[in-house]
Amino acid sequence: MSILYVLIMGMSAFTVQPEDHTGKVQILWGKGDCQFRGKHYKTEFRVEGEPVVLRCPQLWSQFGASISPQALLTWRKNNSAQMIPGEGPRMWTEDGTLWVLPALREDSGTYICTVRNASHCDEMSIELRVFENTEASLPFISYSQILTLSASGLLACPDLREFTRNRTDLKTRWYKGSVPLDENNEKFIGVEGTTHLLIHDVSVEDAGYYKCAITYAHKGRQYNVTRNVKLRVNKRKEETIPVIISPLQTISTSLGSRLTIPCKVFLGASTPDTTLLWWTANSTQIESAYPGGRVTEGPRQEYSENNENYIEVPLIFNPVLREDLDTDFKCVVLNTLSFQTLQTTVKEASSTFSWGIALAPLSLVFLVLGGIWMYRRCKHRTEKARGLTALKTGL
Ligand SMILES: *[C@@H]1O[C@H](CO)[C@@H](O)[C@H](O)[C@H]1NC(C)=O
Ligand SMILES: *[C@@H]1O[C@H](CO)[C@@H](O)[C@H](O)[C@H]1NC(C)=O
Ligand SMILES: *[C@@H]1O[C@H](CO)[C@@H](O)[C@H](O)[C@H]1NC(C)=O
Ligand SMILES: *[C@@H]1O[C@H](CO)[C@@H](O)[C@H](O)[C@H]1NC(C)=O
Ligand SMILES: *[C@@H]1O[C@H](CO)[C@@H](O)[C@H](O)[C@H]1NC(C)=O
Repeated sequence: MSILYVLIMGMSAFTVQPEDHTGKVQILWGKGDCQFRGKHYKTEFRVEGEPVVLRCPQLWSQFGASISPQALLTWRKNNSAQMIPGEGPRMWTEDGTLWVLPALREDSGTYICTVRNASHCDEMSIELRVFENTEASLPFISYSQILTLSASGLLACPDLREFTRNRTDLKTRWYKGSVPLDENNEKFIGVEGTTHLLIHDVSVEDAGYYKCAITYAHKGRQYNVTRNVKLRVNKRKEETIPVIISPLQTISTSLGSRLTIPCKVFLGASTPDTTLLWWTANSTQIESAYPGGRVTEGPRQEYSENNENYIEVPLIFNPVLREDLDTDFKCVVLNTLSFQTLQTTVKEASSTFSWGIALAPLSLVFLVLGGIWMYRRCKHRTEKARGLTALKTGL
């Protein structure tokens, strides 16, 4: 208790509610000064009765950067002022993680991790969904994995880091549907000491739901930790040689204006995932050639037209300067099959002065004069004709 009080006295950001009727001390956190940095992209889908570990999303996103020992890390469930660990021994925190053991369906919800030090505070949330342990839950809780037809491939039993750490006795059990796999046949081999399953010569029939399980001991009790994998089997992807279809070799522009040169690459049936596309200036990367950012690469776009894949990265000048006319710009594309470049140069557009434009006012003058002359001529004729009619009627 005295340690708790030292902690409370030392940090002004907290307000303390004196002992409530349950006899526990509750700490309510100063709210407004803490920056909410959003929800983690990943939702944890788990089954009831098993141990669940949530990682504080801030530690996850700044991979490698560990939180300093002075920082205080706390968890709470959304819409609840109650800090975790709250009542009962089912939940505890450890090294930036929140443990729930065993998880119940009512534990589903949004959990908020707060990291606070003397000068700084931020929060991120992560969602947990706990499902009933039945077959009907499989589509929600399964991890998707893909292997290639007629090749050998590995299935991974994912997200077990906290349960496999420092273990030499690790044994992963694998099931196809609910049937245990005989892991010593030619087809399926459990890779010893890991959580991987090797599948030989993958066939279309191998697709479907797999379950993997390890046991985890805590305070003398054994728990099963299971993960479900939905395996998809894909045909081997044919890679094609990419073709740079634009830009043109020279681009005309006027100095001082903004210019965008797209580099568009045809991939055919190849996936964009294995293709890199970038620009260089005098054979150096754009970022290093223009640290000031006057010339930059725009965002990469991936799209399909008529079932053919394309990728595109624009080069953006803001603005074009005279020195760009002497710089050698290249669009570079690289995949497993080829490396190609296309060079482009920026040219100053020729002057907009042209005789056509200069003569336009002059031709207008001629047109008007011509018009007046025609009008006069016509009028003269009609008058002559009228005179003739008058003569005729007068007879
Ligand atoms: C907490 O719950 C409220 C209402 O249910 C919701 O509006 C809010 O976005 C939630 N906060 C987070 C961080 O998910
Ligand atoms: C508090 O944390 C922030 C962000 O992690 C860090 O930049 C800052 O130096 C820390 N301050 C102290 C006093 O540790
Ligand atoms: C794992 O082992 C390392 C070194 O043997 C040790 O420093 C660490 O505390 C152990 N972690 C756990 C969770 O037991
Ligand atoms: C773990 O799974 C095995 C195999 O399905 C089962 O025999 C055992 O009872 C399970 N243990 C617990 C604690 O659920
Ligand atoms: C590229 O090289 C040319 C000629 O050597 C030079 O005039 C130009 O300024 C260089 N451009 C950059 C961005 O370094």
